Amino acid sequence: MSAAEETPGTAGRPARSRAAADRLAPPMDLAALIAAEDTRIVVCCGSGGVGKTTTSAALALAAAEAGRRVVVLTIDPARRLAQSLGLVELDNEPRRVDVPGAAGELHAMMLDMKRTFDDIVVAHSTPERAEQILANPFYQTLSSSFAGTQEYMAMEKLGQLRAGGQWDLIVVDTPPSRSALDFLDAPNRMSRFLDGTMIRLLTAPSRAGFRFASAGFLVFTRIISKVLGGQLLRDISAFVTALDTMFGGFRERATATYELLRRPGTWFVVVATPEPDALREASYFVDRLSAEGMPLAGLVLNRTHPPASTALSATRAEAAAEAIGDDGDPAGALAAGALRVHAERMTLAAREQRLADRFTSAHPEVALRTVPAAAGDVHDLDGLQVMAEALTGPDGDTPTGVPRTRVLPARRA
Ligand SMILES: Nc1ncnc2c1ncn2[C@@H]1O[C@H](COP(=O)(O)OP(=O)(O)O)[C@@H](O)[C@H]1O
Ligand SMILES: [Mg+2]
Repeated sequence: MSAAEETPGTAGRPARSRAAADRLAPPMDLAALIAAEDTRIVVCCGSGGVGKTTTSAALALAAAEAGRRVVVLTIDPARRLAQSLGLVELDNEPRRVDVPGAAGELHAMMLDMKRTFDDIVVAHSTPERAEQILANPFYQTLSSSFAGTQEYMAMEKLGQLRAGGQWDLIVVDTPPSRSALDFLDAPNRMSRFLDGTMIRLLTAPSRAGFRFASAGFLVFTRIISKVLGGQLLRDISAFVTALDTMFGGFRERATATYELLRRPGTWFVVVATPEPDALREASYFVDRLSAEGMPLAGLVLNRTHPPASTALSATRAEAAAEAIGDDGDPAGALAAGALRVHAERMTLAAREQRLADRFTSAHPEVALRTVPAAAGDVHDLDGLQVMAEALTGPDGDTPTGVPRTRVLPARRA
């Protein structure tokens, strides 16, 4: 059985019965998923700051070590992580990352959304037209700052990488949007915008010729051009006219790229931290994926804080610290301090467990993998290696011998 078949969420809801019974999420076998030959694209989604970029890089590293030729498309990686991946400049092309001892190859790239947009324009119009479009101020604004451009261009780049056919696996990071859903909505928004009624109206005179425009419409454009500024209107108009050749193409492209995400071989990994906002966002995303028929590998719950031991409860640790009291004995003070730290850790873990449980009772079929918070940032290959191990290592292999699908050892079935 391939990893794809084993991962819950493929056909119906296989893992539900057992998981629902004891309210534990089914485990997620990411090691098998990334090593499977028929897994071609893995997309890491989630709200901002939860660890999408880091998870993408760690999964790509693990896949390269498993022998695959992998490219990770990162978007706005933290500077130190980019440096350690050799991504010193934004060149919009994959670069090989040296991973000593890896059976496969790791390549990494950083998305340059403006360059990606420019490339599409150049590829789909005549040289003169392309020059016109690229020089157009409205195009320059659209290509570098329109909300959704980054999301859309990430998909474009994914399409290009896939079409090149040279990668066993493409791991895609998603933009630091406010909402994870922006990634899925971008192609539609982009084509709606370019094809929008407003733009059609505004540019109608130059598209159809003034003779078709009614007197009322000319008054309307005059008012609009007063409000927007005549130059901007002329820019938009010139841009859309120049884009006319690609116009129909844009919507088709958006649809095709979107379809790529539904093809067999594509898997989504939703990343969240054990916090209400991140998990709420993950919840929306999981619902949306299932509504769109897009395959979900599972949820990575990143930066959890499992205690070293659960033998001592928070209450008892607090009580013991209290009992030692503050009699000036340094050894006693040290012990009381350690007990309080343990109590805090237990309280935090219990809170994280509650949040994870709430997610699982709402989505019992969603497989889960937890990744403990590292002591510092994850910004080099060693750090990624640790994270890769947490994501893909055996599920029962935490330092405390506890399955990683559980936040708290006490939740062991
Ligand atoms: N498991 C972890 N332990 C410690 N730090 C982490 C972990 N995962 C991510 N980080 C750190 O959190 C920050 C945000 O991670 P990043 O992957 O850039 O998030 P996103 O791409 O979702 O915005 C980075 O500084 C990263 O090093
Ligand atoms: Mg990021």
